[in-house]
Amino acid sequence: MDPFDKVRSFTRPRQVAALGLYPYFIPISSQAGAEVIVNGRAMLMFGSNNYLGLTQDPRVKEAAIRALEQFGTSCTGSRFLNGTLDLHIELEQRLATWTQKESALVFTTGYQANLGAVSALAGRHDLIIVDRADHASIIDGARLSYAEVAKFKHNDLEQLEQILAENQGKKGLLIVVDGVFSMEATWPTCPGSWR
Ligand SMILES: Cc1ncc(COP(=O)(O)O)c(C=O)c1O
Repeated sequence: MDPFDKVRSFTRPRQVAALGLYPYFIPISSQAGAEVIVNGRAMLMFGSNNYLGLTQDPRVKEAAIRALEQFGTSCTGSRFLNGTLDLHIELEQRLATWTQKESALVFTTGYQANLGAVSALAGRHDLIIVDRADHASIIDGARLSYAEVAKFKHNDLEQLEQILAENQGKKGLLIVVDGVFSMEATWPTCPGSWR
């Protein structure tokens, strides 16, 4: 079967767009914190992860411009080889001091952080236990690790304990849960959330 057949037959987004209901990839032409411009109209943004409003902070912008002038627009390599700048090291050292940890490692996105950390910590002889509502990046990181993966129902600590009891001493165990369950807008301390 031609692997591109499924691409050609995937017409649902176009059908939904024709009804004016497609919500993805809407271009934003400027952003100023909670307000963005879409199709020339000012709108309120509720989906951003600019929680601290730092993207518009003049100090952050000025530092970014200085870095751009000094280093150009790219690190021109992976962190592993020729892409580690002294700026990365300084940032990681300062973050470690600020969070009172031994060290820190910065990733470009949250997705990459979970992919990198989970797949590095667990291996094929381990068991990763995840909340069913964990972010996709945790699930993907678990897959990438080659570890066995067990899921428990969202916030169901009894089921988690059962999985732990069944596997204690058999494998290395890693439990990975979100702090905020962003995939379905639920909160870990909210028992009986609507799942
Ligand atoms: C809980 C959680 N983990 C990981 C991510 C992935 O982060 P990013 O979009 O920076 O890749 C997100 C969100 O967008 C998230 O909400």
